[in-house]
Amino acid sequence: MDTGLRGKTALITGGGTGIGRAIALALAQEGVDVAFASSRQHPETLRQLSESGVRAFYLQADLSREEQVNAMVAQAIDRLGHIDMYINNAATTRHQPITKITSEAWLATLHTNLSACIYACREVARHMIARQQGCILIVGSTAQYTQAYREAAYHITKTGLRVFKNTLALELAPFGIRVNLLVPGHYPTPLTSGASEHVVEIMKTQIPLRRLGQTEEIAPAALLLLSDKLSPYTTGAELTVDGGLHLRPLPLLSDDELRALNQE
Ligand SMILES: NC(=O)c1ccc[n+]([C@@H]2O[C@H](COP(=O)([O-])OP(=O)(O)OC[C@H]3O[C@@H](n4cnc5c(N)ncnc54)[C@H](OP(=O)(O)O)[C@@H]3O)[C@@H](O)[C@H]2O)c1
Repeated sequence: MDTGLRGKTALITGGGTGIGRAIALALAQEGVDVAFASSRQHPETLRQLSESGVRAFYLQADLSREEQVNAMVAQAIDRLGHIDMYINNAATTRHQPITKITSEAWLATLHTNLSACIYACREVARHMIARQQGCILIVGSTAQYTQAYREAAYHITKTGLRVFKNTLALELAPFGIRVNLLVPGHYPTPLTSGASEHVVEIMKTQIPLRRLGQTEEIAPAALLLLSDKLSPYTTGAELTVDGGLHLRPLPLLSDDELRALNQE
């Protein structure tokens, strides 16, 4: 299917690993020039992007700092020529129970996950409004639907992104700029690598499709929302790609119980 993305440009944060990397590679395969930003270099991702035959750039940035967010957007415009698509994907987790939350962990989570998105979208929106075109995709989390022990800071920032997406979509719509939210469930990535096998097994029992997602399985959803050809009338929307996790039935039946339910 032709996504109509060929020849466009994209800036993605946290594009060196995990879900961001899968989205960056999928964009490159569609013929999109990609700049990705993260605090550490990811030469293997850069190499793979370049092998797709597009222009690919790595931008070093600590996104918890406003001036580095501003610099990232300016450098991306400089290297790419302009930004057609902005994907706000980077995030950090510093899970702590509320009685032990440190201001360092809270502020790092707040600024990396939420403030960075607000500052980057401010800079990108000014650029896109001047061009009267553009598309923004924010990566949220199914944390927005449920509570989890120790995850107050992460939960607040991810819920904040969802709220921010609404206002951003509203304010940019008159300029033909679409803004949407992509909501991942559970995917094995560096961000989730701390989860024990025991916890992963419990997670699987809560997912109707009975397994974690693979990052390649969420990238097509990102392309769909980013494509003006495929989603020209979609803005302020959220697309959840989580194997049904957000449905969270109480309780989720086992395969045997389900079979029994449907037997005569
Ligand atoms: N994996 C899941 O199950 C899951 C579930 C729900 C939502 N999500 C969301 O999906 C998105 C991608 O996460 P992921 O799972 O793919 O994890 P990941 O591979 O660890 O990606 C996070 C990225 O953020 C970058 N990053 C973190 N702090 C940064 C900072 N201060 N400055 C610059 N870059 C920073 C990291 O790059 P460097 O370390 O190189 O700086 C990394 O590439 C996140 O928004 C996350 O909340 C993931």
